[in-house]
Amino acid sequence: MKYDICVVGLGYIGLPTASVFATRGKQVYGLDVSEHIVNTINRGEIHIVEPDLDVLVRAAVGGGHLTAGLEPMPADVFIVAVPTPFHKGDGRPIPDLGYVESASRSIAPVVRDGTLVILESTSPIGTTEAMRDWIQDERSVQGLPPLEGVHYVHCPERILPGQMLRELVENDRICGGLSPEGAKRAHDLYRTFCVGEIHLTDARTAEMVKLTENASRDSQIAFANELSLICDKANIDVWSVIELANHHPRVTILNPGPGVGGHCIAVDPWFLVDAAPDCSPLMQTARKINDGKPDWVIQKVKSHAERFTRAKVACLGLAFKANVDDLRESPSLQIAEALADLGTVDLIVCEPNIECLPDTLQQSHVTLTSTEEAIAAADIVLLLVDHREFGDVDRSLLHNRIIIDTRGLWR
Ligand SMILES: NC(=O)c1ccc[n+]([C@@H]2O[C@H](COP(=O)([O-])OP(=O)(O)OC[C@H]3O[C@@H](n4cnc5c(N)ncnc54)[C@H](O)[C@@H]3O)[C@@H](O)[C@H]2O)c1
Repeated sequence: MKYDICVVGLGYIGLPTASVFATRGKQVYGLDVSEHIVNTINRGEIHIVEPDLDVLVRAAVGGGHLTAGLEPMPADVFIVAVPTPFHKGDGRPIPDLGYVESASRSIAPVVRDGTLVILESTSPIGTTEAMRDWIQDERSVQGLPPLEGVHYVHCPERILPGQMLRELVENDRICGGLSPEGAKRAHDLYRTFCVGEIHLTDARTAEMVKLTENASRDSQIAFANELSLICDKANIDVWSVIELANHHPRVTILNPGPGVGGHCIAVDPWFLVDAAPDCSPLMQTARKINDGKPDWVIQKVKSHAERFTRAKVACLGLAFKANVDDLRESPSLQIAEALADLGTVDLIVCEPNIECLPDTLQQSHVTLTSTEEAIAAADIVLLLVDHREFGDVDRSLLHNRIIIDTRGLWR
């Protein structure tokens, strides 16, 4: 069978995208390397937490428009949405394009002349060209004829976990082609469901735009985090300072927090730094400030804990942002793990969006409890994530406890 669209990688980005196309009448094939994910989706179920995605996937699979599999299948369009992490190593982090390369090589035999190949993964400058070269190279390795008239386009995704289905439809998009015709074809494809503006450009500009967006947010959060350190030293409430400063007509300061996490803002600036290390001191410093914030929080807990023989610390939240279950690159998890490792405090964790603790915390015999139980048992309450549930906490429960509110939720 030939499909309209083959979505490669059925994670937080690929699965909503595949399902939205499928429920708009496209015949969609989802390719993934995980048998568990493929089986889950083919049952009409989902493997990630995202509001309303379960309903959409059930409709897409039940209606016969979405099928998942482990083998690449021919399609008119390929949309690649695989991870683009970095290698940490000893020195500066460097981009890891292994997933994009392996996805490109896996589809190479089934790409036909005239196909549209879209890279949605957030990628270093030049990755769309590299994807074209990997596909051509793999065909040559397999003794297949070179492709003609294939259009390669970078269409970065900007949707926010927790509101992905709305943003998928409403956000503006960028289609950056290796050819203008490719960008136009991608534009027409996304028009199937996108009601936002769709801007056409070249692939390298599109790659740079997405990285710029996240590097910009990282630098702005670093500014807020630096303010929080200065205010703490001066015994001034940083959130009041920011709120009042933001009354200036040309000032917009973001909020500080316990660090910057997730797989986008904490990762993508490194792709720009890697492209031009000598030209990016600001971005490198921003990364350093944001990466240093968890340690500052840990020191704060330690200095309060000194008053107790063995302090009971309630950590509220492990996710990298509010109201999601995603713990990847989460500074809150990093803080909880470091506190558990201290061995000098008793740690109680509350994370309403997960069923069980990550192995690292289980191994340290940390318990996962409800918000109320965690607060009731604690000497120190450390608020790490501004989850809805924590905002609703009865403030009287917090009396006589040391509060470290890294999000300014309980001001
Ligand atoms: N999650 C977000 O909020 C978000 C937002 C914007 C952009 N992005 C970007 O989108 C890309 C994908 O991110 P994600 O969060 O969806 O990742 P994810 O880890 O949730 O999903 C990736 C999927 O790709 C699959 N996969 C890996 N290698 C594969 C291969 N060779 N062939 C087929 N499938 C393969 C994995 O099994 C997984 O299911 C990344 O570049 C990320 O930076 C993510």
